[in-house]
Amino acid sequence: MKKIGVYTSGGDAPGMNAAIRAVVRTAHAKNVEVIGILNGYVGLLENKMIPLNPRDMANIVQRGGTILKTGRSAEFMKPEYRAKAAQYLKSHGIEGLVCIGGDGSFRGAQALWAEHKVPIIGICGTIDNDVYGTDDTIGFDTAINTALDAIDKIRDTADSHDRIFIVEVMGRNSGFIASAVGLSGGAEEILTAENVVGVDKIVEKLKDSRAKGKTSSIIVTSEGQKAGRSYDLAEAIRKKSGLDAKVCILGHQQRGGAPTAHDRIFASRLGSEAVMALLAGKANLMIGTDGGKLIEVSLDIVTQNAKPGDTTLIQLARLLSV
Ligand code: F6P
Repeated sequence: MKKIGVYTSGGDAPGMNAAIRAVVRTAHAKNVEVIGILNGYVGLLENKMIPLNPRDMANIVQRGGTILKTGRSAEFMKPEYRAKAAQYLKSHGIEGLVCIGGDGSFRGAQALWAEHKVPIIGICGTIDNDVYGTDDTIGFDTAINTALDAIDKIRDTADSHDRIFIVEVMGRNSGFIASAVGLSGGAEEILTAENVVGVDKIVEKLKDSRAKGKTSSIIVTSEGQKAGRSYDLAEAIRKKSGLDAKVCILGHQQRGGAPTAHDRIFASRLGSEAVMALLAGKANLMIGTDGGKLIEVSLDIVTQNAKPGDTTLIQLARLLSV
């Protein structure tokens, strides 16, 4: 293999730049050229490609976002568009790809391999940590630290005013951010798709806490299918109990910022390993992690399974919040 491509796809995640840097510099050390595909599958379908040299990677390891930009493409779901993409790749002499993204991005990668035999290695990058087959994803650690920093600040004002706060974190289909942040932020209740709690129960708990002498409370909820749903919950709590709950939606700030050391290290390992896998003739794999050890999982398996939700942290948070 003499030339490979790399792209970032789906929601950006802090650490994606560290992964791109690792791909480019590892490939260069092995005398392989790298082409950057801009804006994910959107750019691939527009033939937006640029050469990436090792020196272009200077000063990006610490930057959030992705220098290659990203995108979500509905067109790429259709076979005729994937055929067009395969043609563009061929015309540039690109013999293999590294895809940095989440499960949606991997579905596109898997289809490109199945239909056109473009060898692709996936690197799991999404703040949601909702990719099947891996413990961790690039950006998750940074996102939970960003959210935690905000919760610590909210706690100060909640305490000063004896208030209840509902803090809404990202995660459309998953509660991994909410669970991790809820436990580490000392939340009284954590609401996710795996832990649906009715308003009556929430009110009962808040009243019970107040009766025990607790003056402020934090409830962490994932955004679920409707970002902003915390306002409905606050209104429902008020109607049921007269308790006033303030709402704070953390939103897209969780996707930005400098990656933590953990995410930089993880992304560097994944990026380098992905290139080595391509050069070893491997394809249709995701590089993930299991207990800190890098693992390879077939993209067929990754894309056909949903990562199961986990309520262990939620239960622990409940036990520790008295
Ligand atoms: O990247 C994952 C994620 O941040 C989810 O947590 C969130 O629901 C979604 O992306 C938001 O996507 P967009 O920025 O395209 O609205």
